Amino acid sequence: MQINVAEANIVDRCESCHMNTREPLKITAASMTPKGEKKARRYADAFASHTQPELLKIHDPETFGCSPCHQGNGRATTSVEKAHGNYEHWLWPLFPRENAQAGCQNCHAADMVLVSGDVQWQTINNGKDLFRQRGCMGCHRYQGYDEEPEELNSIGQQIKQIETQKNQNLKQTAYLMKQADAAESNEDANRLNGQAVDLRVANSKLDGHLQQLDYQSHSLMQDQKKVGPNLKDVRLKLNKNWIPVWLKKPRTSVPRPRCRTSASPIARSRPFQRISGNRDSPML
Ligand code: HEC
Ligand code: HEC
Ligand code: HEC
Ligand code: HEC
Repeated sequence: MQINVAEANIVDRCESCHMNTREPLKITAASMTPKGEKKARRYADAFASHTQPELLKIHDPETFGCSPCHQGNGRATTSVEKAHGNYEHWLWPLFPRENAQAGCQNCHAADMVLVSGDVQWQTINNGKDLFRQRGCMGCHRYQGYDEEPEELNSIGQQIKQIETQKNQNLKQTAYLMKQADAAESNEDANRLNGQAVDLRVANSKLDGHLQQLDYQSHSLMQDQKKVGPNLKDVRLKLNKNWIPVWLKKPRTSVPRPRCRTSASPIARSRPFQRISGNRDSPML
């Protein structure tokens, strides 16, 4: 038994042992245990149906294989240890049972939560939540996670560069015009004027590019859907020594919340986004 997914270079032979993984009938380790034996044999476990058939409906093993979720060495069949990648020549051993959901991160790193209808994958969702709440994301940034702020930042830098270029062009144009006025021959004057016109054309192209970047940054800001910080653990952020002071004079003792009213440069800057940054605000 093997699954071949050529374009992803996956060859998974897990079902050589796990033969009933996808059988339509529900098969348990108990039902694979011979009559009279009290305890299931080791292989009875391997013959059981998949515990999450609904998940396999969303991720058909014909196209996803098994190892992208579970890890393990899909090609090996000579022993359980080798197949599960628990030996010195394999870098990606099977995730242990209690961490089976770690594999979801291989493809769903950019998703805030994994839910489908009423089903929640709570282990991975809690992990993702901790990663944000504990500030790990401040240092451990990775591609695909919290992408909009990164892109906004890069667009901001491009806009700055283009504006600098435009200013230089303007200065150079003024200089060329002056030179043209003072030129000794008509030919020189025409040449200098021509150069000035070229620079004006270049600037109007830059204006077009600026407008595009402006559209892009607007749509990115909409995608961020930020209305405010996650208030779930707001209690933890209040220092109890402050409370009596704050009760006396609420206005002065606690900094006013930073509300996001417009796309000011501060609102676009990375530190601000890190403070207010979460895409799954409970207020949405
Ligand atoms: C040589 C037979 C064999 C192959 C091939 C095999 N397994 Fe297993 N697997 C077993 C057996 C037997 C068990 C029962 C538990 C044990 O003995 O470790 C098991 C248990 C499991 C479990 C339960 C969790 C655990 O830690 O016990 C998972 C998940 C699993 N296998 C996934 C896979 C995946 C994914 C592949 C392919 C990459 C695979 N297996 C290939 C024999 C195999
Ligand atoms: C989309 C990801 C995904 C794919 C694809 C997938 N699995 Fe799983 N599998 C899981 C998750 C998550 C669990 C743990 C379910 C649970 O905790 O009940 C699981 C559970 C299992 C178990 C039982 C583990 C236990 O605790 O007893 C086995 C065995 C297994 N998978 C084998 C396979 C095989 C073989 C394939 C390929 C035909 C496969 N899985 C494909 C995600 C996947
Ligand atoms: C090999 C890549 C891969 C892995 C690993 C993977 N997924 Fe997916 N998942 C996908 C793709 C592709 C889609 C379809 C995306 C789409 O339709 O937009 C998807 C869709 C989903 C959906 C959305 C289904 C819906 O109702 O719209 C959920 C929920 C989901 N995956 C949960 C999980 C969980 C839980 C795990 C881990 C146990 C997991 N995925 C592992 C690639 C993966
Ligand atoms: C102040 C910055 C910072 C914060 C915050 C931070 N880390 Fe790290 N982390 C590092 C550095 C630096 C390394 C070492 C990287 C290296 O050795 O290449 C590291 C390494 C790791 C590693 C080992 C990675 C590997 O590939 O071996 C893990 C796991 C890890 N951190 C998890 C976390 C978790 C979970 C959190 C949140 C609770 C967190 N880190 C918060 C800076 C940080």
